[in-house]
Amino acid sequence: MTLQPAIAAPPILIKFSHVVDENTPKGLAALEFKRLAEERTRGRVKVQVYPNSSLYKDREELEALQLGAVQMLAPSLAKFGQLGLRDFEVFDLPYIFPNRQVLKTVTQGAIGRELLSQLEDRGILGLAYWDNGFKVMSSNSPIRLPEDLKGKRMRIQPSRVLEAQMEALGATPLPLAFSDVYTALETGLVDGTENPPSNLYSKNMHEVQKYVAVTNHGYLGYAVIVNRKFWNSLPADLRLTLERCIVDATRKNDDEAEKLNAMALVKVKQFKNTQVHTLSAVELELWRKAFEPVHRRMESRISKDLINSIRKAAA
Ligand code: LMR
Repeated sequence: MTLQPAIAAPPILIKFSHVVDENTPKGLAALEFKRLAEERTRGRVKVQVYPNSSLYKDREELEALQLGAVQMLAPSLAKFGQLGLRDFEVFDLPYIFPNRQVLKTVTQGAIGRELLSQLEDRGILGLAYWDNGFKVMSSNSPIRLPEDLKGKRMRIQPSRVLEAQMEALGATPLPLAFSDVYTALETGLVDGTENPPSNLYSKNMHEVQKYVAVTNHGYLGYAVIVNRKFWNSLPADLRLTLERCIVDATRKNDDEAEKLNAMALVKVKQFKNTQVHTLSAVELELWRKAFEPVHRRMESRISKDLINSIRKAAA
């Protein structure tokens, strides 16, 4: 009897598409996931990471995941409203999270789990939350007070809450894909935008924005999501290994978020094209007040119980 040589099965391919630079919390965590997954599955899984919208832009990547053209994404929570999942926009409510601890309590607890479970009907599984801290406002005219953005055109992510937030300032919101933001700022299509410092800096927005106010008014985080059919088709042992890799990549993301956002602000200041204003306590209170109507307006869109349970966690 002749023995046939064993033929190694080809590796399972996971395409992980995202829209930000590699040198961001999400960019580095995606690479960490790749490294861990390939190492711990001993090559049974291969991960291809596509940063900078090199494969798909924001809206397209969600469609591609649902169709199975990519297997893994980490879109910002603001972008799930496009799937008809309005509750995710609760994360966009200005000043709803007083600090990262409250945010973590929400995402790691029952509220976070319930929100991720809403993705299942869309053929998606939500496996983790990745943090990217709080947003600053930027513009080409000085910003200290909420009224400084009156009449300005501001790029936003496609979220009704963010629309209402800019309208509360008397600004005109313009939803644009992340990959189009730099050009929109450079050409003057918009006057300003909002993003965590790590996104601002890694996309060179400071080259085309003269003023930044550290308002920390809104949260930006991600859900790590996979195509449900693909994930459930994986052998159970591989799935478990990959889920552990995601836990470790999450830690990497959250550590980098703290570090890179602080560092990005320092770098923006050093570049000397942009004046960075830190709010006084009185100014901060004025921003909070300016955004109060947004909460009331959005209570009819996002479940009121959800808003209240987050407020309770924050109290
Ligand atoms: C944006 O579109 O401003 C951000 O969501 C991009 C990202 O993924 O951080």
